[in-house]
Amino acid sequence: MLKKEQIQEMKNEGNGTIAKFIDKNKSSNRNVLNLLENLGRLPDDFDGKFLLDLLDNENSKVRYWAVKNLGKLTDDEYLRVLKRVAETDSETNVRREAASSIGRMRNPRAKKILINILHDNDPKVVCQAIRGLLFFKGDAEIDENLKSLIQHQNEMVRTVIYKEYFAKDKIPSSQPHQDSCDYLKNVVVNADTIEVMKQMRDESIHLTFTSPPYYNARDYSIYPSYKHYLDFLTGVFKQVHRITKEGRFLILNTSPIIIPRVSRQHSSKRYPIPFDIHPFLIEMGWEFIDDIVWMKPEASVKNRIGGFQQHRKPLAYKPNNITEYLMVYRKSTEKLLDWNIKQYDWKTVQESKVTDGFETTNVWKIDPCFDKIHSAVFPTELCKRVIQYYSFKGDLVFDPFGGSGTVYL
Ligand SMILES: C[S@@+](CC[C@H](N)C(=O)[O-])C[C@H]1O[C@@H](n2cnc3c(N)ncnc32)[C@H](O)[C@@H]1O
Repeated sequence: MLKKEQIQEMKNEGNGTIAKFIDKNKSSNRNVLNLLENLGRLPDDFDGKFLLDLLDNENSKVRYWAVKNLGKLTDDEYLRVLKRVAETDSETNVRREAASSIGRMRNPRAKKILINILHDNDPKVVCQAIRGLLFFKGDAEIDENLKSLIQHQNEMVRTVIYKEYFAKDKIPSSQPHQDSCDYLKNVVVNADTIEVMKQMRDESIHLTFTSPPYYNARDYSIYPSYKHYLDFLTGVFKQVHRITKEGRFLILNTSPIIIPRVSRQHSSKRYPIPFDIHPFLIEMGWEFIDDIVWMKPEASVKNRIGGFQQHRKPLAYKPNNITEYLMVYRKSTEKLLDWNIKQYDWKTVQESKVTDGFETTNVWKIDPCFDKIHSAVFPTELCKRVIQYYSFKGDLVFDPFGGSGTVYL
C-alpha cells in the first residue's frame, strides 16, 4: 500500500506515473482504491484520462472514487462522461457522486445535465442535482424547474425547495431570543396545564423537559380511553409548540406501559405511548432529533420474567422493562442550530459550555428516584443532564407536568 507521501511524489512526477501504477495494479482493487482515496487536490493541468477506464470497473467503490476524482477536474470533456455515469450507473452512491461532481464543476454547460438528473429515482441523487443547480439560482429556466419540485414525492426534496424558494421571512419575535419574561421565572403553578399555557405568550420559553401521565397506569390522572389520552397530550404539546421559541427543544420522557388484565381469562394490554404520540408531534411541527434511552438497574423495576424463568415456554417471554425514552424534538424551522447559538452573547455561550464527563452515548444509566408522596418523580441527574445539554445559562426551562417539581430543584 502506498503512503500519502509516495502518492504526493507520484502526483508531482506528472500523470504518467499514476496512470502506469493503476495499469500495473488493475487486478488489485485495494491498491487502486488506496491511491484514489488519497489523491487529494489535483492540479489544474492534471490529465484524468486514466480515471475514465475505471468508470466501468465492476467494483462500485472504484467507480465511486474515480467519479469523485473526475469531479475535481474542470475539463468539459469529463462533463460528458460524468453525465453518462449519473444517468446510467446501477449504484445510487456512484450516481449521487457523479451528480455532486457535475455540480461542483459550476459549468454553465452542466445546467441541462443537472436538470435531467432531477428525474432520478433516488432522492439523494436528486438533492445533489438541486445543490448543483442552486449555484445558478436566478436563472429563469433553473428556478422554474426547481420550484416545480415543491410537489416532489420525497420530503427531503420538498424541504430544500421550500427553504430556497417558498419560505417566508418570519416576523421576528418581539422578545430577543435570549430573553424571557420575569413573571415566568422560578414559578410553580398548581392548575390544569393547558389552561396555564393559554395564558402564556407565543415563543416565550427555551426548553421543555417533561414526563406526561402514563395513561391510566398510575392513579394521579385517569382518562376514559387511550384515544382521549392521546388527544389530551396532543392538545398539551400543541400549546408547548406555540410557546416554544424558534428552533428550541422539547424533551419528552415516556415509555410503553402495561394495564393489568381484568381477570385470568383476559390478557393485560401494553400501550406503546412514545410511538403513538410521535406522529402527532411531527404533524404539529416538531422535528424528531434523537431518542435517548434511560436505563435503570434491573433490581429497581417490576419483575415480569419470574414466570418465564419457571416455564420457559416460547411466546410467553416477558422481559423486565428497564428502559424509558427521552424523545428529543426541535421546533421546526428553516434556521440551523448555529442561528440559535448566535442569539447568545459570547459570555453566555462560554458559561454554558458543557463540562467534561458528559454522556457520549444515547444510553443513560441512571438510578430511578422513589418518593413517598409522588409515584413518578424524575431523578435529579436526569434533569441536570437534559438542562445542561439542551439549554443555555439563564434560559427559561418549562415542565407542563411539573408534578413534585423536580425540574425546578
Ligand atoms: C409523570 S408525572 C411527572 C412527575 C414529575 N416529572 C416529577 O418529577 O415530579 C405527571 C404529572 O402530571 C400531573 N398532571 C396530570 N394531568 C395534569 C394536568 N392536566 N395539568 C397539570 N398537571 C397534570 C400529574 O398529577 C403528575 O404529577
